[in-house]
Amino acid sequence: MTTTARSETSFTSTLPGRYYYDPAIYELEQERIFSQMWVCVGRAAAISTVGAYQTVSIGRESILIVRNRESKLNAFLNVCRHRGSRLCIGEAGQLKGSIQCR
Ligand code: FES
Repeated sequence: MTTTARSETSFTSTLPGRYYYDPAIYELEQERIFSQMWVCVGRAAAISTVGAYQTVSIGRESILIVRNRESKLNAFLNVCRHRGSRLCIGEAGQLKGSIQCR
């Protein structure tokens, strides 16, 4: 009968601790995941009526998701093109017309 010693890593079931707090790992996640890939931000049914919107943060960006007049969902950067002001402040709401910068 042969016995082999188990390494410490064979008992590891999670990432090493530094993956949870290392700023360099955080920067890599922002660069390679949140700014490059699709991110699920919620369920379409949560924005059910025309003009309803939600804002979500993805990485360092605020994203505005709106149900348009054709009842389709659109997502935009939540900033105006003139000076980058935030367009919608709250987490969710109902637009009465077009999106306007304050
Ligand atoms: S800051 Fe000028 S239109 Fe938004």
